[in-house]
This record gives sequence, C-alpha cells and structure tokens, in this order.
Amino acid sequence: MKTSSAVLLFTTALLCAGAAAVASPSLQIDLAAPGKAISRDLVGVFFEDLNYAADGGLYAELIQNRSFEYTASAQADWGPFTGWKLVQNGGGVGQLGLGDYRPLHPNNPHYLMLNVLTAGEGVGVANSGFDQIPVKQGAAYEVTFWAYQAFMGAKWGGPGPRIDQATPMPVTVRLEGRDGRVLAQARLEIAGRAWTKHTVTLTPSASEPEARFVLLAHEAGGVALDMVSLFPKDTFKGRANGLRRDLAQAIADLQPKFMRFPGGCLVHGSGPRDFYNWKDSVGPLEQRRDKRNLWGYYQTHGLGYFEFFQFCEDIGAKPLPVVSAGVCCQHAGDSPGRGQEGLPLDEMPAYIQDILDLVEWANGPADSKWGAVRAAAGHPELFGLKYLGVGNEDAITPAFRERFKMIFDALKAKHPEIVVVGTSGPFHSGEDFDNGWALVRELGVPMDDEHYYVPPQWFWDNLSRYDSYGRAGAQVYVGEYAAHDQDKKRSTLRTALAEAAGLTGFERNGDVVRFASYAPLLARRGHTQWHPDLIYFDATSVYPTINYHVQRLFGCNAGDTALPAALSGTAPGQRLTCSAVRDSVSGDVIVKVVNGEDRACTIAVALAGAPAGQRRLVATVLAGADADLVNEDGQPPAVQPVTEESAVGACFERVFPANSLTILRLR
Ligand code: AHR
Repeated sequence: MKTSSAVLLFTTALLCAGAAAVASPSLQIDLAAPGKAISRDLVGVFFEDLNYAADGGLYAELIQNRSFEYTASAQADWGPFTGWKLVQNGGGVGQLGLGDYRPLHPNNPHYLMLNVLTAGEGVGVANSGFDQIPVKQGAAYEVTFWAYQAFMGAKWGGPGPRIDQATPMPVTVRLEGRDGRVLAQARLEIAGRAWTKHTVTLTPSASEPEARFVLLAHEAGGVALDMVSLFPKDTFKGRANGLRRDLAQAIADLQPKFMRFPGGCLVHGSGPRDFYNWKDSVGPLEQRRDKRNLWGYYQTHGLGYFEFFQFCEDIGAKPLPVVSAGVCCQHAGDSPGRGQEGLPLDEMPAYIQDILDLVEWANGPADSKWGAVRAAAGHPELFGLKYLGVGNEDAITPAFRERFKMIFDALKAKHPEIVVVGTSGPFHSGEDFDNGWALVRELGVPMDDEHYYVPPQWFWDNLSRYDSYGRAGAQVYVGEYAAHDQDKKRSTLRTALAEAAGLTGFERNGDVVRFASYAPLLARRGHTQWHPDLIYFDATSVYPTINYHVQRLFGCNAGDTALPAALSGTAPGQRLTCSAVRDSVSGDVIVKVVNGEDRACTIAVALAGAPAGQRRLVATVLAGADADLVNEDGQPPAVQPVTEESAVGACFERVFPANSLTILRLR
C-alpha cells in the first residue's frame, strides 16, 4: 500500500513539474489504476416513524385520529375523540358516543356514534388534522368515511329511535376556513344498518393554511362513523393513499439507493408482544390496526408495507425492511435500561412464520397466499425483496442470540436468496458491538448493521475505521449515523462536514461498506422528539438541513470503482480528507474533498494516467465561513451547494474553501 502511494506521489510530482505554484498539500489520483469495485448503493435513507414522520408527515392523510382508536396508552390525555370536536350549528344539539359493538373490522374496534337531538343547522364533528389542515384553492381533496344509521335511544338521552329506516340521514361534509367560511362542501346520505363507504371530492374555492374538516348531520337521529379521511389527490406520483408530494420529493432528490424501514426502535417496540407487525400494515385501510408506537403516538399503518415498497419502487431504492429479532427494545416502555424481554419461545414459530410470510408477500407469485394480498393491492409483479434486517441495536443477550439464530436459520433454509442484516448494538464499539459482530461471524450472517451518533471530531478521528475491516466476512451497513454537536439540537455545517468526512471513508471502503444511512430522516416541527434530523417540515413547508445537502451530494455522485487517491503534505490532525470514484455509467471520475478547517486550503491536484489535454470539470461546493452556520427554517439558506463549470488539465491547483465539501466531477 505504502509503496504504491509513494510511486504514485513520485510519478505525479514528475507529472506536475512546472505547475505554477508548489502547493501543499497535494492530491494525486491514479486514473490508470483498475481501482476496486465498490457498492453503487452506498447512500440510502432510513425511515422511522418518530417525530411524526409517517402520520402527520410523509403519509398524506390530513385527518388526525381518523378511526377513533387513540387511547391514553400513548398520551395520558388522549382518547377516542382526540382531534375531534362536537359541532352544534344554529340551535343544533347533539352528543358524541363511542361505539365498539358493531366494528367495521376486528382490527378497527372503535367508532364514533353521533347522536343528534335537535338538528338545528347541523350537528356533527370537526377535525383540524395534525395542528392544522392546509388546503389549496382548486386542488382536489377526497373525503371518504364509513357509516351506518344508528338508532340512538333513551340510553343515549336521545330523542328515541329514528324508526323510519327508509329515510336516510342527510349529511354535509365541508372544508371551513379559520373564519368559518365554507371553502367547499358536498351533501350525502347515510342509509341502512350496514357499514357503507362514502366517497366525495371537495375542491376549495380559496387556499387556507388552517382549514378544518366538518361533517354535519341534518336531522335528529344517529349515525355511526369510522375511517373518516381527507386525502389530497395531489400525492407523490399521484398514488392513491399516497405520500405528501413535497416531502416524498425531498427524499427522492437524495437519490437514495435503498430505504430501511419502518425503524429503528419502533420495530422492536415496548414489550415482547409490541413488535411492529407488518401484517397490520397491509390490505384494505379499514382493516389495518392503529397502534400506539414506541415513540408515544399513534400510527395508523396507512403508510404500511405496501406503501413503503411502492415508494421504494417509485424512487429506485432497494427496500430494506427490518423486523424484530424476537426481543423488545432494552430501553423501551417501563424497562430499566437493559430490560430486554424475549418473546416466549413457544410463540417464536408463529413469529418466524410471519417473517417468512413477509418474504412471500414481497416476492411470492400472485397466486401464493401472501403474494395474493400484494396483488390484490394492485401489485401483481414481485417487489424483489433482497435485504432483510433482523434486530435493531439490541443488547446481545442469550435471549437475543437464541431468537436471532432461530430466525436466521429459518430464513436461510427457506429463503437463502435473502441477505440478512444483523445488528451490533447502539454504539460504534463496546460490549454489544463486539458481541453483535461475534455473533454475525459465528453464524455467517452476510451483513451487519452499525449505529453511531457521535461528536463531529469522532468522524475525523476515525477516517480509516473501515480500512482494516476484513473483506472476507460480513459486509457493513452503517444503518444509523449522525454527528451531534455540543448543542445537539442543531444541524450545523460542522456536523454536516463531519458526516461528509465519514462518507469519504465509507466510499473509500465501499468494497466492505455496502450501505449507509443518516438518522433520523424526518421531523415535524412541534413534534420533534429527537435532534438533529435530516429534514424538518411543518404542515406546509420542508426545511432541508445542511446535512441534507451532504447526503444529496453523495447520493447524486455515486460511483462503482474506488480509485487510489493520495493526499499528502497535510499537517498532523488537519481536517482534510477525500475520496475518488469512477462511475462506469457516465464514465465520470468524481472526487470529493472535505475541508473541515476554518481556513481555505490550496491543493495541487494531479490526475495520473489521464490523457493529455483539457477535460471538463463540474465543481459543486458546499461551504460557509463559519462552521456553526445552520440553515434556519423559512430563511434563505445560509449554506447551499453552488455549481460551476470549467476545464482543467491533468495537473491543476484548486482552492478548497474553509469549511467545505467539494465535489469535482471530471468528464
Ligand atoms: O434514529 C433514532 C433512534 O436511534 C432509532 O430508533 C434507534 O435505532 C436509535 O437508537
């Protein structure tokens, strides 16, 4: 290694003899070298439903608590009517009741009983969504709800049964502005005792960031209501039950090569029977189970496995679902630190079958039991699942080992084509890290998931972390990482550059580091539970961080061959690093240079083995004078990438600004 670098340095010194200035440091890239094959899929995303990332976030549903399933198990003051208000217009009098004896589906046990004592100008319910419901003039919003006519007798204090079943209950659904102005409305009728789905489109006459949805009944009597939904038609790729366009686009713009989901800690849950169950997240919406998630709020599963896989397909990312290894989170619920609990062993066969069924759901033919569920949802083609995470930064206890091995063995026997990703604790080193890796090696697990949230300097001090990893064993997935500044709540340029430095190390070692994903991905303002995050948002806007730009620059400048790149003449401890790759698709050579110092650095760059003459250089620079800079919500970005084009010869000098990431794309 050392010898070839020295030869390269000597050669480039000759190559650059006569260059205008003798600069220090210098960077020599050997374009003639065969290089080493690396992962094309290095940069991806990790989606977890925390910080209201799914419901109230990426999932475009605008109604909160649409199926009346909230309970105090998520938050002490929550209940079935959280998010809902009784509306009594123009002398109307009514009550809200909770039904559970004629459920729409066993997975969806509760529903609203609306008891109208005096109709007045309408009695009903209003919902203001997740903080607010933004609507746009002229855009289409689909209202759906399930209902039947309920007979609200004396026990409800009602006027008595509405005897005449032949007379339907007239109802209005509308969007109202803050001032009560009606922006759109439609009339429907609820008839009969069978649950029936109603659908109508509302098109607001004006834009309103804080609208509310209202459903009003217009005669005395009762109706039962469930799955009351307001959904924009303008979703990402126009998908029904789809994703918020701006947020999904922000993720797509990263050009992620894979997506890990649905967590994180959310996967293994707060107790041994609280795992995320993928089966609760597929099939008709009204049959999906609402669930309190580990992060203390409700997930409808409306953004479920079908939607995750479809999104992956839409953005060209490989799906990487994660399942619990049969143990719950060691820190979750009321457990005391390492209070991990395992699923009782006699329940493991059924749990393992669920995991095998997941593979069949994704990859099985449309006439297989679970492939048919996928096909019924509109996707007879196979999803092509290849990677499956088992476990999430679990404590590597005997309970974990036993259950992980059971799952791994079953997958290996039934689906040897699936690449299982193991886990090695929440830190970059230590007991669980060592034991997790030891287990992966012992069982021959093909990939292992490492997590680290560390100070920025850690990345600079560990640039060569993966240089010494064995190439013969498991590959590495850096499933969660981020630089946390002293003030953890800020995504500064310093943290972004530290992550960029880390990424150069991943890329240089892309023959063993297969995947890497920053964490967490999304956070809604006002509901942010973890700092920092990659993309912040509110009801109407998306706020990418500087760190987002780093991920995007690496995602959009991937290569498949790492080229030898020797940086010399740096001062001890100088925060300066690089990687160089070739992209066989475009033929471009892409050099990434990170300068983490507060001063600019001039580097003499030499392209050894390059044909004579000029070549086009597209340089993209992400830089700021102060490493503490932050891109503030709603403000012009303090730091954003700037691209310029020029032509360079085989040797050139370039100034790399203070606190910068520079992408040099050589054509
Ligand atoms: O990314 C946030 C959390 O960090 C994840 O849920 C967990 O895996 C890790 O501890």
